Amino acid sequence: MKLLVTGGAGFIGSAFVRLVHKLHPDWKVTNLDLLTYAGNLDNLSSVAQNPNYSFVRGDIADMPFVEKLMSESKPDVVVHFAAESHVDRSILSPEPVIRTNFNGTFSLLESARRTGIAKFVHVSTDEVYGSIEEPYEADENYPLRTSSPYSSSKAGSDLLALSYYTTYKMDVSVTRASNNYGPFQFPEKLIPLMISNALEDKPLPIYGDGMQIRDWLYVDDHCRAILAVLDKGQAGEIYNVGGSLALPNIEVVKRILKITGKSESLMKYVTDRPGHDRRYALNCDKLTAMTGWKPLLPFEQGLEETVNFYATNPDWLARVRSGEYRKYYELNYAGR
Ligand code: NAD
Ligand code: TYD
Repeated sequence: MKLLVTGGAGFIGSAFVRLVHKLHPDWKVTNLDLLTYAGNLDNLSSVAQNPNYSFVRGDIADMPFVEKLMSESKPDVVVHFAAESHVDRSILSPEPVIRTNFNGTFSLLESARRTGIAKFVHVSTDEVYGSIEEPYEADENYPLRTSSPYSSSKAGSDLLALSYYTTYKMDVSVTRASNNYGPFQFPEKLIPLMISNALEDKPLPIYGDGMQIRDWLYVDDHCRAILAVLDKGQAGEIYNVGGSLALPNIEVVKRILKITGKSESLMKYVTDRPGHDRRYALNCDKLTAMTGWKPLLPFEQGLEETVNFYATNPDWLARVRSGEYRKYYELNYAGR
């Protein structure tokens, strides 16, 4: 099988590429990634020399380039991770978010249609359902009620992807996962930011009252779900992927402080995020019924492993923080 993976140098995409090489060593993977601030080829050093792996630097929103790549490499499947993935960043600067997440997805879908690619998996998020009142949980038919430019761009791209099934009968599946955590996550999201700050005795910024609820999913469990959808997913269907563990942010932060042996006095309550979704909750029965998939790693164990990764890889952390992303960002978007 030949895969075109977009965003394979990011957090989840790189975990997916590593998992594919472990479970399906004969599959050929082409990784298309622009290497924005969040893309880091260090994440793929374990597969870089593999003859079944190749890397192409490029922009998914550049349609002529994408179409040429697809017509030359002729993948059987596109697994689409590439995105501007951070809510706070999307609030500060929505333009690259809409460009990559919506226009980029369009460019990939349209190129896949023109070049006759057999299957397309669009990786999306539970944030498209917006904030969910207790005691409800969102199944795949729950209305879309987005709050941020990030979640809106993902919801728009989900609908566009599904329209390629409805209109052109392309074999498109959409996955909507909850908050991922694990090694190699850029230290801007809650868990890696709190771990890295705690390790360095820096303040841990808690937005608002810290009682917002998120469902946590270990990144490899998410990647196994995508493989399950590749294998058994139906065209035109959406699959929720959750970790079955909903926790208030403050509880997650306290657990991190406990594992790192640091004091709760590092917690600092700061101004809330605008439009902050209060609670996410997912029903994943459809995916489990269709594929047998379930999340495997207990949160306590996943969190310990994640803390251990950041504690033992200070060089990785220093490199991703070193400012490569600022150069990219400033060159392309600053001042617009
Ligand atoms: P990430 O920010 O770690 O990585 C994104 C990758 O996309 C980077 O390697 C970046 O260089 C690349 N990229 C960005 N713009 C690009 C462009 N225009 N062309 C080519 N490559 C580009 O993101 P992540 O956390 O790994 O998320 C991957 C996907 O999963 C995203 O689509 C995101 O919406 C979705 N998702 C993430 C989470 C989560 O908790 N992180 C949860 C659910 C769904
Ligand atoms: P985040 O990791 O940005 O993911 P998302 O916004 O996609 O859910 O944030 C997770 C939760 O943690 C969210 O409720 C916002 C909160 N948060 C903080 O309280 N402080 C922080 O510094 C960050 C980055 C997030």
